[in-house]
Amino acid sequence: MTDKYILAFETSCDETSVAVLKNDDELLSNIIASQIESHKRFGGVVPEVASRHHVEVITTCVTEALREAQISAQDLTAVAVTEGPGLVGALLVGVAAAKAFAWAHNLPLIPVNHMAGHLWAARNVRELEFPLLALLVSGGHTELVYVKAPSDYKIVGETRDDAVGEAYDKVGRVMNLTYPAGKEIDALAHQGNDVFNFPRAMMKHDDPALEFSFSGLKSAFINTVHNADQKGDALDNKDLSASFQAAVLDVLLAKTKIALAEFPVKMLVVAGGVAANQGLRERLATEITDIPVVIPPLRLCGDNAGMIAYASVCEFNHGNFADLSLNARPSLSF
Ligand code: KG4
Ligand code: ZN
Repeated sequence: MTDKYILAFETSCDETSVAVLKNDDELLSNIIASQIESHKRFGGVVPEVASRHHVEVITTCVTEALREAQISAQDLTAVAVTEGPGLVGALLVGVAAAKAFAWAHNLPLIPVNHMAGHLWAARNVRELEFPLLALLVSGGHTELVYVKAPSDYKIVGETRDDAVGEAYDKVGRVMNLTYPAGKEIDALAHQGNDVFNFPRAMMKHDDPALEFSFSGLKSAFINTVHNADQKGDALDNKDLSASFQAAVLDVLLAKTKIALAEFPVKMLVVAGGVAANQGLRERLATEITDIPVVIPPLRLCGDNAGMIAYASVCEFNHGNFADLSLNARPSLSF
């Protein structure tokens, strides 16, 4: 059998990434060019800046990905690319690059959903078994997804307002932390105590059991800090972080447990940028012990093309290819 090599592109937000996957499970390279330094001073991702950076570095990323994988374009079997969701201008750079590459080398083109990518990053750890439940937590999304079979996704619960990562970044700004603040808040949380007892939303008996809301928590946090400021009190970022993280994790764990009770599955996948959270990993390890909990390694939690390559395998097997009219789909959902 000849080897199968997939070249994958990811440019949905602020990382330009190109990866090579061999025979469905061997990630040979995963080049990630981060633009974080350019966005930090704005306190968030500036879409036009992101698109411009992608244009500048994407061909270098392709060259590097092939070099590190020690293959040439002639060895490739297919090209995969994130079609959405994400920033439209950013997505278009990856889509245009992938189309040009596929056309030039006469390769099939596989469009991939970015959130399916986050989920399939778990394939790096072990083979996935279905049905499974996924808790996807990133800067733009917070959703519980029931996955009956490899390409059969159903969102069973999601946030009504802010995504978890977004809430981390917004409260980080109030504590004067640099963007993105999730990692630092996680570290601070481990040194403080839950003294503020912030609200845990959507946890009442008559609330939708699998829906999330984080805007009330964010507002409670901001009000607490502003009220203290007005009185001339400086609150401890460690206790603020511990209190915020405890409220977030209580909700994530509670909703995941309800979903697991409702949908019998073979495993739980927890993925997306916020899956890097150490507090979340600790609580999952102690509180969900009856089924395997699969979390991608840290380097595959944030945006990267390796996860897009893993997700493209089942689409390849189903023959889900796109023609050269493929466009970006910024609001794509499952
Ligand atoms: O998945 P991702 O890289 O990009 C999106 O698709 O959104 O997620 C980025 C988000 C940011 O909001 C960042 O603050 C958050 O993931 N994040 C974390 C941690 N590391 C990154 N949040 C909490 N704890 C962390 N350790
Ligand atoms: Zn993402």
